[in-house]
Amino acid sequence: MIALTSPLLWYTARASGIVSLLLLTAVMALGVMTATRVGGRPMPRFAVAEVHRRIALMTMIFLVLHILTTVLDTYVHIGLLAALIPFTSAYKTVWVAFGSVAFDLLLAVTIASLLKQRISHAAWRAIHWLSYVSFPIAIIHVLMIGTDTRFPWMLLLVAGCVGTLFLAIAWRLWAHPRPDGALTAVPRRKGRPGTTATASTQHAPRGRKIASSGQTRKPR
Ligand code: HEM
Repeated sequence: MIALTSPLLWYTARASGIVSLLLLTAVMALGVMTATRVGGRPMPRFAVAEVHRRIALMTMIFLVLHILTTVLDTYVHIGLLAALIPFTSAYKTVWVAFGSVAFDLLLAVTIASLLKQRISHAAWRAIHWLSYVSFPIAIIHVLMIGTDTRFPWMLLLVAGCVGTLFLAIAWRLWAHPRPDGALTAVPRRKGRPGTTATASTQHAPRGRKIASSGQTRKPR
């Protein structure tokens, strides 16, 4: 086997791991926002969902870089299969396995999203929920194996990631954001005074719904 090791590989493995963690946090937080249908003036809902998708893709790219540089750096030996199949790495078997499981789960989520049109919504949703499982597993991996976790800045960064996701989930559970808060990116057309052109009438709490048209009339 050819020995290939350099500080550059090691720094890249660590840096790409950290970037992956930051991106993963952003993806998760944006995912929670998408699920609660947040959106509005500064960033409509479709944009939140689009940013969520793009950052998810970037996360996978940085994770692949993290894994490849770790595997290429022969200073410690982790084969490509050992990186992907949990508990097969001779080096730090358990903590590498946490990374592998987190990555494998995210890979399943990514593949399910790519096949979204071909699988049932229930199956896609069930697989998508695996991302909630992968996040804490990734955090344990980072804390237990990372070189930089001996530095306070890294611990602060990890705490910031956990805190961000915790706040997003807590807000989803307790703030009860209105699911109809920003249903669509399509702007409301100006209709006759007192009427809305969209199908949704839920934004006119004091209005009366006209059963046949779905429009709303203001009370006199
Ligand atoms: C969701 C998946 C993963 C995330 C978010 C992640 C993230 C990280 C982070 C942030 C670090 C700490 C870097 C530092 O201390 O500067 C790290 C370290 C490490 N990761 Fe991962 N990782 C993941 C998956 C994997 C996988 C599948 C492997 C298998 C090769 C792996 C191997 C390693 C190794 C060997 C280290 C120690 C590097 C060092 O500090 O010397 N990781 N990872």
